[in-house]
Amino acid sequence: MKKIISVVGARPNFMKVAPLHKAFQKYRDSVQHLICHTGQHYDENMSKVFFEDLELPKPDFYLGIGSGSHAKQTAGIMVEFEKILLQEKPDLVIVVGDVNSTIACTLTACKLHIKTAHVEAGLRSFDRDMPEEINRLLTDQISDLLFITEKSSIYNLKNEGISDNKVFFVGNVMIDSLKNYLPKATKSGILEKLSLKPHNYVLMTMHRPSNVDSQEQLKDLVHLMNSISVKRKVIFPIHPRTKKNLEDYLLINSINKKVILSEPIGYIDFLCLLRQSELVITDSGGIQEETTYLGIQCITSRSTTERPITVEIGTNHLVGDSYQKAEEKALQILNGKIKKGKIPDFWDGNSAERIVKIIIDKL
Ligand code: UD1
Repeated sequence: MKKIISVVGARPNFMKVAPLHKAFQKYRDSVQHLICHTGQHYDENMSKVFFEDLELPKPDFYLGIGSGSHAKQTAGIMVEFEKILLQEKPDLVIVVGDVNSTIACTLTACKLHIKTAHVEAGLRSFDRDMPEEINRLLTDQISDLLFITEKSSIYNLKNEGISDNKVFFVGNVMIDSLKNYLPKATKSGILEKLSLKPHNYVLMTMHRPSNVDSQEQLKDLVHLMNSISVKRKVIFPIHPRTKKNLEDYLLINSINKKVILSEPIGYIDFLCLLRQSELVITDSGGIQEETTYLGIQCITSRSTTERPITVEIGTNHLVGDSYQKAEEKALQILNGKIKKGKIPDFWDGNSAERIVKIIIDKL
């Protein structure tokens, strides 16, 4: 019997591990698949609701790390994860995405000579000011198996000297979850709850430090929301970081009453809001991919994206991190100037099965 531990830590990890866990169930007789939650995200609406929505079992291990500086969070995860690895001696550790839990657990496993697989490898923004870029670069350097979602990753990994025979183009596990839960999401009832009409509202999310940490940018963000709310209803589920900063800078009350502010929203309800929106404005990585799959117009308020396929063939518009540019583009789109997109190769709902087959073969 082989033992595999998959790591989840922060909100964007849960929808990536859920399809893997499901795919491993087919091999239950030969593989024990366990889940370790580092506790990087811990609020009910940033974590527990995703386990329920994605039908994930309670994690086998919970490290309870919580928030802190990068060093404190990353080191805390390493110390606790090492204990689990020494006790469980798994044959493989699977990490996903680019959060602090991803690099912390990869590094811990690697130092104990335990093999690691990185799902969603090879994405690069080429902006080393982003903590995620550092996490991606380092995780890929020390992982044994690299599963990639788009072709740009092949070139990125080659340029970094990573051997081809570690790299597997398998598609996007996040799209596996999206496809699987879309039928359920259409019945969610969130639109009625928020009094929104399908295809007649703008969904916004913003949480990156580079977009929400300075007072100037937050003022511009409030201006952007207020200006769009004159044209369409705006729904803005607020990430805890953004909420705290809006409160600290006394800006939360400057947001127009026509903007619907909500707590972070669970997976199924959020998918429903995405699917039915006319336009999404975001700085999230995953949402750029989800909107591309759904053919929804997406404005990414950043100057780089590690997911270039969403701009090249998808419905993503990369406008730079000035909110003024986002506003100009939003007005064009709401006036009908939309971009038609295509679904990238292998974003077909079967990526987790491909990954699991390769892993079984390699173990
Ligand atoms: C992390 C990831 C980011 C990902 C994002 C999704 C890193 C470096 N960043 O950023 O790539 O896009 O998750 O949300 O790993 N907080 C709560 N409750 C929670 C979690 C966080 O209130 O459950 C607050 C805390 O004040 C914390 C802050 O949010 O200090 C930031 O949390 P943190 O885990 O450091 O990073 P995120 O900004 O969420």
